[in-house]
Amino acid sequence: MAELAVEGLALRRATTADGPAIQAVLDDDPATWELLEGAPLVPNEGELMLPLVPPGGTIANKHLFVAEGACVIDLYAGYPQPHIWYLGLIFLTRAIRGEGLGTRVLACLAAFVRAHGGTALRLGVVAENAAARRFYDRLGFRHVFSKQRPTPSGGLTDLDVLELAL
Ligand SMILES: CC(C)(COP(=O)(O)OP(=O)(O)OC[C@H]1O[C@@H](n2cnc3c(N)ncnc32)[C@H](O)[C@@H]1OP(=O)(O)O)[C@@H](O)C(=O)NCCC(=O)NCCS
Repeated sequence: MAELAVEGLALRRATTADGPAIQAVLDDDPATWELLEGAPLVPNEGELMLPLVPPGGTIANKHLFVAEGACVIDLYAGYPQPHIWYLGLIFLTRAIRGEGLGTRVLACLAAFVRAHGGTALRLGVVAENAAARRFYDRLGFRHVFSKQRPTPSGGLTDLDVLELAL
């Protein structure tokens, strides 16, 4: 079965030993992490991400990738429906943003998901993350619904769920 490969990015499947490698990518930009997640980055966020799956999910459907010092991708097969794949995270380090790499990653992700039988790629983007929203709009993602997510401090974050038909 086709594996995820992106030219110019040394992506590999994350193993249980990759908590620190994931953490190093996130540590590059804690402010953006906090914007995405609504909570501050913690020192063991990489470790915490390793077993993280959607509600009712199983680790076998999780596809977590890391490129040393460059990128983390957290993808889940079959949520919330069997043919929908959920992109929980795409995070590039600051130095390599805005040069077309994210666009290429999304194209490769779409091909990867299609090759595994997925028919749509879904994700949630916080309304405040206008740059990411422009990025997804340009790639052809369509708005599915909006919701509010509770923050640890008791507030609410507006979240737009978007989907790309494959
Ligand atoms: C969002 C992201 C994956 C896009 O990848 P990229 O390689 O920067 O994007 P590309 O160069 O292919 O496309 C550029 C577009 O990405 C968007 N973008 C989002 N964040 C950006 C950033 N920090 N710097 C530059 N462009 C960014 C913009 O819409 C930009 O288009 P514009 O120049 O018209 O504003 C990447 O910027 C990133 O990891 N950002 C931080 C984490 C994040 O917000 N992830 C998405 C969560 S839903």
